[in-house]
Amino acid sequence: MNLARRTMNAPALAAVYERAWRPALFYLASGRSMDTDRRDAARTLRLCGPKRVLDLACGPGNFTRHLSRELTGEGRVIGLDYSEPMLAQAIRDNTAARAAYVRGDARTLPFADGAFDAVCCFGALYLIPDPLRATREMIRVLAPGGRIAISTSHRAPGWFGTVSTAVGGAGGLRVFDTATFPALFAEAGLTDIDQQIHRLLQYVSATRPA
Ligand SMILES: C[S@@+](CC[C@H](N)C(=O)[O-])C[C@H]1O[C@@H](n2cnc3c(N)ncnc32)[C@H](O)[C@@H]1O
Repeated sequence: MNLARRTMNAPALAAVYERAWRPALFYLASGRSMDTDRRDAARTLRLCGPKRVLDLACGPGNFTRHLSRELTGEGRVIGLDYSEPMLAQAIRDNTAARAAYVRGDARTLPFADGAFDAVCCFGALYLIPDPLRATREMIRVLAPGGRIAISTSHRAPGWFGTVSTAVGGAGGLRVFDTATFPALFAEAGLTDIDQQIHRLLQYVSATRPA
């Protein structure tokens, strides 16, 4: 297990992730606050009503509970993660009526085809071994008409991109080309593909045609 994966399994990180680690590191990487990312996620995923939502690699549930607030009736957000300390922290800090947590591996999702109206994975694909397989799993469980949104690393141009890719790689963090996810979404037949770059992060969303 590499350094990044070991870190995500540490109870000490789970305890400080939502309050300190995530706000500080993601602000440095993207210039965006967690509140901005949460608001944009709910809007991009078009959450409302009784939708079924999957928050893949949910960590301590720092998006899961906020996304669940947009839902009504039978609407639910399932937060899935493989780290037991992260899930224990999610239950402590982010329990909500329309949020539930499941332990699992993003590469082999325990859900039927088309089980969700919206699927997201924020700040995690660069940690997951075989991230493209995990992305295809997200598309598989997305219902026709559903929305998908990811945020992940992005290779900056020039020497800075070369250095950040080498440093990230040494720690076990993958850095993706700009074209990787839009191309994968297009190959899978998704439409409305949108990509935004904020410093070292990319935000990509799309629709599965009805
Ligand atoms: C940096 S946290 C992201 C948490 C949250 N989504 C956010 O944006 O702040 C990355 C999470 O990915 C999870 N993760 C890594 N590999 C995974 C896998 N193969 N299956 C499920 N979760 C995984 C880790 O356990 C960790 O909780």
